[in-house]
Amino acid sequence: MDIINTKIVKINPNNIDYEILSEAALIIQNGGTVIFPTETVYGLGANALNEKACDKIYKAKGRPGDNPLIVHINSMEELNDLVEEIPENAKILADKFWPGPLTMIFHKRDIISYKITAGLETVAVRMPENKIAQELIRLSKCPIAAPSANTSGKPSPTSAEHVIEDMLGKVDMIIDGGSCEIGLESSVIDITSEIPTVLRPGGVTKEDIEKLFGKCDYDPAIIKSDENIVPKSPGQKYRHYSPKAELILYKGDLHKTVKEIKKDCKRYISEGKKVGIIASEQTGNLYDEGIVKVVGDRNNPLTVASGLFNVLRSFDSSEADIILSEAFDDKGIGKAIMNRLEKASSKKIELGKLRVLFVCTGNTCRSPMAEGIMKHIIDKRGLDIEISSAGISAVDGQSASKNAVLALKEMSIDISSHKSRQVSKEILDRADLILTMTSQHKEILLRSFKGLEDKIYSFNIQDPYGGSYNVYKACSEEIKNEILKILDRQII
Ligand code: TXA
Ligand code: MG
Repeated sequence: MDIINTKIVKINPNNIDYEILSEAALIIQNGGTVIFPTETVYGLGANALNEKACDKIYKAKGRPGDNPLIVHINSMEELNDLVEEIPENAKILADKFWPGPLTMIFHKRDIISYKITAGLETVAVRMPENKIAQELIRLSKCPIAAPSANTSGKPSPTSAEHVIEDMLGKVDMIIDGGSCEIGLESSVIDITSEIPTVLRPGGVTKEDIEKLFGKCDYDPAIIKSDENIVPKSPGQKYRHYSPKAELILYKGDLHKTVKEIKKDCKRYISEGKKVGIIASEQTGNLYDEGIVKVVGDRNNPLTVASGLFNVLRSFDSSEADIILSEAFDDKGIGKAIMNRLEKASSKKIELGKLRVLFVCTGNTCRSPMAEGIMKHIIDKRGLDIEISSAGISAVDGQSASKNAVLALKEMSIDISSHKSRQVSKEILDRADLILTMTSQHKEILLRSFKGLEDKIYSFNIQDPYGGSYNVYKACSEEIKNEILKILDRQII
């Protein structure tokens, strides 16, 4: 491919330099290519009504011809000229989410060439919110076709540095407008069907759309990892967003994830590999080896979304051979985060849920109370953790003591059907996390069984055995506080 002289300019979105932006618009009008910021990711733009100009986009990206482009507009009037009809649902969605991170699929008019739609009868349209993008479209006096401004297959660019890395010498102009707030590409929604369907998850979530229409589906291709299901959005069929290194995604409980990543990290390092780790604010300081990058805060997934592509790209420059990544909760924007991570990964490790075992002496007072309390709390929080209990010198099949049952009844927890059991190697092996009531319990277990060292922790809860109801009540409160502390830390 010929090398083009790329002009790089800087524009402040809050104080637009119209002289420079008019120059960019002129390039678009003359059939050239301009990379511009949007609130999602940077776009590689050309006049959507000029086939030759659109050809340049595919060339610069090295994009397969069967992957259609998104057309960017800045007014609803413009939409009328491009699409056959604007369904009622689309009007409602546009009203609510445009300008913004939403792309909708419409039946195209003839004015939209098959070059843009990759032969499809439908066209993807989005109205971006970023001021530079809006003004560029307005000044160019035409809709702008723009895919993400990355080399095909690489993570989408969320800063001008990323764009320059991929596109210098391949486009006419790059507008540096700072970093993109959202950091993941727009949601692609098909509203040509009766029930709106999410073809690519993004900033506008399935839950957002359900609030408006009651129903919204995911395209089956994005929820099942079955290669025989053809995605409705052609772009979803490619492995994508890939850093150079192989990425392994660890799914399931976070506690297990950290442990497994640490173990694998050690192994890969011993094989001479340079290992990268994608961690979160909650876990970053738990890793003591590897190149650890904190992508964001689990309690604020928007930070994870906006940091993800930057982190993926940064592993290219740190020359990691392999990247081990935590997974994220896949609700709301988390669905988009996980969609991108899944596409970037070449291997997934399913760790499943956490299995917690409480241990006391007889398994009739403290540990059944702990089991009951923790089950109750995780039920309320919608967490999926397996919880059980056992005793170091328990008689199998005994009920919980009367006062233990009564104390928990007050918390609306029923442990009346509890049956005690003696700890065994099998029970201990099954647990990912063993919580003993005192340090003596822990010591006894460590002395009697092998391989528990890195999964056993102790509380300091004294035995209420034989005590009054009030003693049990106080004991149950203590246990509850210990459990809450653990859950709030999210990880031990
Ligand atoms: O946030 C974004 O959407 C960014 C910014 C620049 O607007 N653009 C972007 O474009 O991510 P691109 O080309 O990287 O992704 C467009 C996606 C692809 O997965 C493509 O297959 C899908 O939209 N798409 C385009 N036209 C379609 C159509 N007619 N039917 C189904 N999917 C379509
Ligand atoms: Mg893309």
